[in-house]
Amino acid sequence: MRPIARTRQLLTEAKAIAVLTGAGVSAESGVPTFRGKEGLWRNYRAEQLANPLAFEYEPRIVWEWYNWRRELIAPLTPNPAHKALATLEAEKESFILITQNIDGLHAKAGSRNILELHGNIWKVRCTECETVSDNTEVPIGILPHCGECNGLLRPHVVWFGENLETDILDAALAAAEACDLFVVIGTSSIVQPAASLAQRAAGNGAKVLEINLEATPLSPSADLSVFGKAGEILPSAMP
Ligand code: OAD
Repeated sequence: MRPIARTRQLLTEAKAIAVLTGAGVSAESGVPTFRGKEGLWRNYRAEQLANPLAFEYEPRIVWEWYNWRRELIAPLTPNPAHKALATLEAEKESFILITQNIDGLHAKAGSRNILELHGNIWKVRCTECETVSDNTEVPIGILPHCGECNGLLRPHVVWFGENLETDILDAALAAAEACDLFVVIGTSSIVQPAASLAQRAAGNGAKVLEINLEATPLSPSADLSVFGKAGEILPSAMP
C-alpha cells in the first residue's frame, strides 16, 4: 500500500489518537525551525539564548530575541497541517495534541485539546511570584515587570536545562499510554523527554506513525514513516 493510503488507513482505524508536533509543523507557516540556519539571530544559536543563564546575565538580549520572534510569529497563520489536525480532533472521540511549539498556531487553527510541552511565547511568567499571564504585545517592553509584585517577567517557555512542568509531562505520558495511534510530526525527535513519548506509546501497544521531511532517530522503530511536507501529507491522508 502506498504511504499516503496507509497513513489514511491508520488515521481511520485509530480510536484514540495522540499527536506530537514539532517545529516542522509550523515551518510551512513561516516559523523558522530550531536547527535550521534561519533559526540564528545576530549569530546566536537558539540554545545560547533559550537558557536560564543567558536570562540571568543578559535578560535584555534574551527579551530582544523574544521580541524578534514575537514580531516574526504575530502575523503568521496556521497552515494546512495545523488545520488538518484540528479537523481530525473534531472527528475523533479521543484526540490529544502534544506540541513542542510555542507559537500558538495549533490553537489558532482550532485545536482544543492541546498540551504545550514547552510553554507559549504569548505568555509571561514572573521570576519572583511565578504568576503566569497572557501578553500578546508586539513588541513587549524590554525588561517587563509583574503587575502583582514588580518582579522581572520572563517568557513562559521551557528553556534548555529546565524541567518541563510536571502536570503537563504527566498528562503527555498518560496520553501516550492511552492511545492506539501515536503520530509524530515535524520533530527531529532528539530532545527529551518529548522524543521518548513515542517509545512509551509503542510499549503500550500503540502504532507509531511519523511524518517528516527526512529520517530521524525515531524512524527505524516507527510502524510507518512518511517523508514529505506535513502540510501536504496530512490533508491528503485525512480519513
Ligand atoms: P527541530 O528544528 O529540531 O526539527 C524540525 C524537524 O521538522 C526536522 O526533523 C525537519 O526535518 C522537520 N521538518 C521541517 N519542515 C517540515 C515540514 N514542512 N514537514 C514535516 N517535517 C518538517 O525542531 P523540534 O524537533 O520541534 O525546545 O525541536 C524540539 C525542541 O528543541 C524545540 O521545542 C525546542 C528545541 O530546541 C526548547 O526550546 C526547549
